Amino acid sequence: MKVLVVGSGGREYAIGRALKNDPAVTELFFAPGNGGTLELGENVDIGDYTELARFAKERGIDLTVVGPEQPLVEGIVDIFRKEGLTIFGPTQKAALLEGSKIYMKNFLKKYNIPTARYIETSVMEEAAAFIDELTPPIVVKADGLCAGKGVIIAQSHEEAKEAAARMLSGEAFGPAGERVIVEEYLDGYELSIFAISDGENYKILPAAQDHKRLLDGDQGPNTGGMGAYAPTPLIDEALYKKIEERIIAPTIKGMAAEGTPFEGVLFAGLMIVDGEPYVLEFNVRFGDPECEVLMPLLKTPASELFYKAATKNLDALDIQFHNKYAVGVVMASENYPYGKSKPSEIIVDEIVHKDLAEHAHICYAGVSLIEGKLYATGGRVLVCVGLGDTIKEARDYAYMLTGQVHFAGKKFRRDIAYQALRDDENR
Ligand code: AMP
Ligand code: GLY
Repeated sequence: MKVLVVGSGGREYAIGRALKNDPAVTELFFAPGNGGTLELGENVDIGDYTELARFAKERGIDLTVVGPEQPLVEGIVDIFRKEGLTIFGPTQKAALLEGSKIYMKNFLKKYNIPTARYIETSVMEEAAAFIDELTPPIVVKADGLCAGKGVIIAQSHEEAKEAAARMLSGEAFGPAGERVIVEEYLDGYELSIFAISDGENYKILPAAQDHKRLLDGDQGPNTGGMGAYAPTPLIDEALYKKIEERIIAPTIKGMAAEGTPFEGVLFAGLMIVDGEPYVLEFNVRFGDPECEVLMPLLKTPASELFYKAATKNLDALDIQFHNKYAVGVVMASENYPYGKSKPSEIIVDEIVHKDLAEHAHICYAGVSLIEGKLYATGGRVLVCVGLGDTIKEARDYAYMLTGQVHFAGKKFRRDIAYQALRDDENR
């Protein structure tokens, strides 16, 4: 099977790595890929989706897997399907679950799926009136895609009104903020749940936990994610069941009922409040770095999972996972997430420790190959992934690997998976 992976981050590297290890995959392409994906397959420098579909046809690509939200929201799946190509991901209409927070909130309301109480509006007076009804902290969100920056947790009524005014005037996020959501603050802990769906059937993956803040102890600014681990012990069978029955199943059913069946990865960002799950957001793709810890846990061949999901055959799949834990530590460049950093060469020591070579690997993200040398050229540069029979073992391998990776200005959190290990060091 010839497979094309769309995207250029660590997530796409992880998907590519799983496909590379799958004997059914004969050729692997990345569009555009990064300096690291070159060791897995061929990078294709085509940004236009119509042209990329033409490339896929010409090269006889059997399956395309889309990593990031941007191409999905822009309709890459519709373009590929029109050409008769098999592609894993939601259509443009289904991608609205991530592309428009208002669409998502209204969908949740319509299908009685638990979420924070809210209003959506483009009128400042309405926003202000609802803000006055709430007790701070108060959450204000821009409607459209804002690269993860469109959410303000305001500590006072004034701050919430200012944030809403800045969004509605277009000052903060341009057109993405022309409509806003004001919602109540949910106080609990966050969980990411991923389900792979073919539009009708779905498979829930082990629950992962991300670490969004830059610094240890969940301090500092928000980032795309500084590390993740899976499965997390923060979820038990009873909670899985609630999440499946109240959130995943009605969402897949509801999207089908809307005439926009959801095919692809449904990423539910949840807040667990007193044991009850609420939807904070949906994304229509894998999380990054969550994908980097989920892919190596997958025992089912990756091509089979994605192909069956893309061809409405998921009911025929008995999905299997390794009985292991994975921990991923993101190594970022000096100025992340504030700005660009100077490119710096990455040196990875030869891994002589046999156990380490067997239990840990790197997923490359913001890297470029320049004259045969690998350089850190992006914000999140790479992810060190460790695998083990316990979270602690997986974490220890991941951190051992970080010690073998060198580039100027490298930084990473030292406490990934701390919530899981806090209560039980040997878990
Ligand atoms: P979102 O992009 O909607 O997931 O929001 C980004 C982050 O803001 C979430 O991961 C939460 O940490 C936080 N957040 C969003 N909405 C709420 C809410 N209603 N209550 C508490 N925290 C929230
Ligand atoms: N790691 C969170 C995300 O990909 O949105």
